[in-house]
Amino acid sequence: MRTNLPVTGIEYLLQDGQSIVSKTDTKGRITYVNPAFIEVSGFTEPELLGKAHNIVRHPDMPPAAFADMWQTLQAGEPWTGLVKNRRKNGDFYWVTANVVPIKENGATVGYMSVRTRPARADVPSVPASCTPGPAVRLSVPPSATAATAPLPRPSEDEPPRLTS
Ligand SMILES: Cc1cc2nc3c(=O)[nH]c(=O)nc-3n(C[C@H](O)[C@H](O)[C@H](O)COP(=O)(O)O)c2cc1C
Repeated sequence: MRTNLPVTGIEYLLQDGQSIVSKTDTKGRITYVNPAFIEVSGFTEPELLGKAHNIVRHPDMPPAAFADMWQTLQAGEPWTGLVKNRRKNGDFYWVTANVVPIKENGATVGYMSVRTRPARADVPSVPASCTPGPAVRLSVPPSATAATAPLPRPSEDEPPRLTS
């Protein structure tokens, strides 16, 4: 797995209706990029052509996503998924990627991906690679709690209430 660094927390939003297209050979080396790919990724065309497609890989993307992508493509099937990519300057952008095998006379000769802006509701707010950190203690000033009535004691025969 290639780890492209550094990364920033700055998101680059695709425009509505924008399509980012790339094609690769059967090994995933880039053979074509459209102008939108160049603009969004921040790389120049010479920096992209002939390179492995993980040049835009974001370290937050779980390896399992790409394992699934490749397994699907190698079975000759199209793959659709949400992908977080890294721009050359470390910023990130989310895409809905539709990746398909390019076939000639029944044989796969390469792959193509067409990416569009995902619906906001589909974009995870926490990266899959994030692991829980130490609890953050919020300090509450005494004045904010002084006027608060004590919580009622649960009755003895009432089962403890679990909060999730
Ligand atoms: C047509 C095509 C498009 C791809 N597009 C992306 C992409 O936008 N972002 C990405 O991280 N990987 C993309 N990949 C997958 C990469 O080839 C690679 O498997 C992935 O970045 C994982 O890299 P790793 O081998 O360093 O773990 C694409 C692969 C193909 C065949």
